[in-house]
Amino acid sequence: MPIISSPEEFNEDGLYVDLRSIFGHSLALKCEGFNFAGSVKLKAALEMVEAAEQDGRLRPGAFLVESSSGNLGVALSVIAASRGYRFLCVTDSRCNLTTRLLMEALGARVQIITEPDPVGGLLGARVNFIKELCADDDRYVWLNQYTNANAWKAHYRRTAPSIARQFPNLDVLFVGAGTTGTLMGCARWFKQRRPSVRIVAIDPVGSVSFGASPARRMIPGLGMNMRPPLLDPSFVDEVIYIEEADTIRTCHRLARHGFLFGGSTGTVVSGAMSWLAAHDGDDLTAVAIAPDFGERYLDTVYQTNWVADLYGADVVQSDELAADSQLA
Ligand SMILES: Cc1ncc(COP(=O)(O)O)c(C=O)c1O
Repeated sequence: MPIISSPEEFNEDGLYVDLRSIFGHSLALKCEGFNFAGSVKLKAALEMVEAAEQDGRLRPGAFLVESSSGNLGVALSVIAASRGYRFLCVTDSRCNLTTRLLMEALGARVQIITEPDPVGGLLGARVNFIKELCADDDRYVWLNQYTNANAWKAHYRRTAPSIARQFPNLDVLFVGAGTTGTLMGCARWFKQRRPSVRIVAIDPVGSVSFGASPARRMIPGLGMNMRPPLLDPSFVDEVIYIEEADTIRTCHRLARHGFLFGGSTGTVVSGAMSWLAAHDGDDLTAVAIAPDFGERYLDTVYQTNWVADLYGADVVQSDELAADSQLA
């Protein structure tokens, strides 16, 4: 029985959902949302904070500042509250209301940027805001999740070895690419220790991370509008691109079976299933990483009007038809 006194001490690392009965291919989905920050980002946040504490950059009373559209902001809010730091999350108008309220409930301040930088867009404007803040006031400490190697080291130290322990015969690992911290930590560990494991990255259509063309993306978590500084593609065997409409369909299908996952999980599962179908993957041991759960996406991914307005009524209808056929 774990008994804890700080929220960051708990993280369930050993729970997987077998998706064979839902999608027809065996895939073990590693649930990273069972902690007090509700997402995989707790690990990266903790590693970055502890490294900054150890190197003396982060001292009692410091003011953390970070750019995040969601989960890292929540994770840093949890850690800052637990360790007595103040925290300012710089986000933009795409940050959903629940996430903002969560951060504020945890005592963080939230700065919403509404004017995109002409070159760097909203992300660029967020980063500019932080740079100016840190230049004017040296109490601010910016961990910078986009360039901080401790973000991938968290997954090198924790996520990958934990998967390898549970699945000693792993053949293929599917990981979504955001800042690529999760991807690079896992990919580096497996390429060094179990090089036969195939590392498949999943990226949304419209993300430029691996050199594809930019396009509108509305689901937070995966994809970038710039090349992720942490990314080293030499550790990645393949990249699969997924349309957001397929992300939504996959999320809804999981939810119809009682598994309410976040948007990025829909993307990763959709990519994994198309890869397994194309590779006759029935005898393979396959794992995918589910970064968070679905409550934060009730007013987007799981809201009929939002889905119909952005992706068309057929995405909603295909979902209703699937539900009807289950009842028939
Ligand atoms: C929901 C969700 N999925 C996936 C990711 C991607 O993780 P990473 O930044 O390690 O690539 C994030 C990152 O914030 C996220 O919030």
